[in-house]
Amino acid sequence: TTSNHYHFNVEWRNITRLCSTKPILTVNGRYPGPTIAVNEGDNVQIKVTNGVSINTTIHWHGIKQVRTGWADGPAYVTQCPIRPGQSYTYKFTVSGQRGTLWWHAHIAWQRATVYGAFIIYPRMPYPFAAPVDAEVPIIFGEWWNLPVEGIEDEMKMYGSGPNSSDAYTINGLPGSLYPCSVQDTFVQMVEYGKTYMLRIINAALNDELFFAIANHTLTVVEIDASYTKPFDTEAIMITPGQTFTVLLKTNQHNGMFVMAARPYLTTVFPFDNSTTIGFLKYNKATTALITNTSNIILPHNLPHMEDHAYATKFVSQLRSLGTTQYPCKVPKNIDKRVVITISLNLEDCPTNKTCKGYNGKRFAAAMNNQSFVRPLTSILEWHYRNYSLTQDFPLKPPHVFDYTGVDPLTHNLNPNFGTKLFAVEYGTRLEIVLQGTSFLNVENHPIHIHGHNFFIVGTGFGNFNAKKDIGRYNLVDPPERNTVGVPMGGWAAIRINANNPGVWFMHCHLEEHTSWGLASGFIVKSGAKPSQRLLPPPDDLPQC
Ligand code: C2O
Repeated sequence: TTSNHYHFNVEWRNITRLCSTKPILTVNGRYPGPTIAVNEGDNVQIKVTNGVSINTTIHWHGIKQVRTGWADGPAYVTQCPIRPGQSYTYKFTVSGQRGTLWWHAHIAWQRATVYGAFIIYPRMPYPFAAPVDAEVPIIFGEWWNLPVEGIEDEMKMYGSGPNSSDAYTINGLPGSLYPCSVQDTFVQMVEYGKTYMLRIINAALNDELFFAIANHTLTVVEIDASYTKPFDTEAIMITPGQTFTVLLKTNQHNGMFVMAARPYLTTVFPFDNSTTIGFLKYNKATTALITNTSNIILPHNLPHMEDHAYATKFVSQLRSLGTTQYPCKVPKNIDKRVVITISLNLEDCPTNKTCKGYNGKRFAAAMNNQSFVRPLTSILEWHYRNYSLTQDFPLKPPHVFDYTGVDPLTHNLNPNFGTKLFAVEYGTRLEIVLQGTSFLNVENHPIHIHGHNFFIVGTGFGNFNAKKDIGRYNLVDPPERNTVGVPMGGWAAIRINANNPGVWFMHCHLEEHTSWGLASGFIVKSGAKPSQRLLPPPDDLPQC
């Protein structure tokens, strides 16, 4: 039997990539961090000790945390940070979900290096007819040669953009197309005629990625720990925060086959357009390809950057499994619809500041024109103790506006700054329409919600039009996720059974956008029955 007790020590470790060595934050000295593997229904305890001199927290991304919001992890939302030398034990039960999730630090940009897989094994046999011979983690990340821990403060100070990373990585390895990286290439040994389960996680901070393996097809069976109707695909598109479980049938006898990931949407300065690779290595293959990089041919099935048609078609194929055993629990009717605009704009520079955004202005991002400001205390604790939520709670929906045709360089789109959330009653069948209104219309916004999965009932380009769009929702088998890529210049409608009492962060999983304030959240009030209430806070909950 496996124990579900883990000890994570956050510590510095010197790591060398791209010929440069620097200390990075790690868990137990490992990069990527250790895998957590539990069975559906298990109680889990992870003691996190802060062994460094800066604050930290860890988030279990996608775990619903039913009634245990104290263990969710986002700093200043559900807990105060774990201070240097202190420990906090995250305790929760994993139920009603199965598949691939992950964990990551949830403060400043620490998740750049502090992340790992979180696997939930099902109680019941897999609902797909394939014996799985082996499992392979495929975790995408980004590597910076410079320290990342201070990036957020700098962005907040100057309204500037971050430097792009120096490499994308697979399981922490850049791959042989990058300088000095021949030895730092992920190689997976495989044999002919087997089925491998790839557990794919996009832990990159700022980029949606395409991923493909030369001469091999992938079968998608589960996303964000929710089973899907299986379908075959040549490549996947995965946003930061999302996870995919795919099956790979090994149909070759020998040779080495390139796997590659590159960004979907980053041809715009100053983004990175480089590619990380690894290899599937059949037993008899040599390593010639790794060392002679001029031999490397990227998989022809890897979509090109900006291939919107591929990305849109791929996403539209995702469906909940929707069987008797795994019914799709999308609310057919709703109690409340909230429209939330998502904008990334330029703002005038306050007179006492220096701004390094663009053209003397600073970047600011907002939901419903509110740019999220991290409070100095835990919102969940404030809520639980019925303290009055100071600052400027709550966010009042809906607040819809349309920036179409507005020139951001001559018009002020200045958002308000504050800590705003909205509240719903326990059990609300909630619809949220996420409407992109950015003038910087160059990328999708992968919006992640804590504490609940949601159903993506509709997406589209342009402005959401209730009259025409609601009638076209998929209320039969929409995909269930915790992170939705809101299409560039478009919208996504999601439905949530808001039946988990607590305070739940909602934010763009592009770290640069969260740093600029693209975040908010909602409070689900406790219900009347004891089983509908948030549990009391643990004794070791960190204090601010
Ligand atoms: Cu994966 Cu709020 O985070």
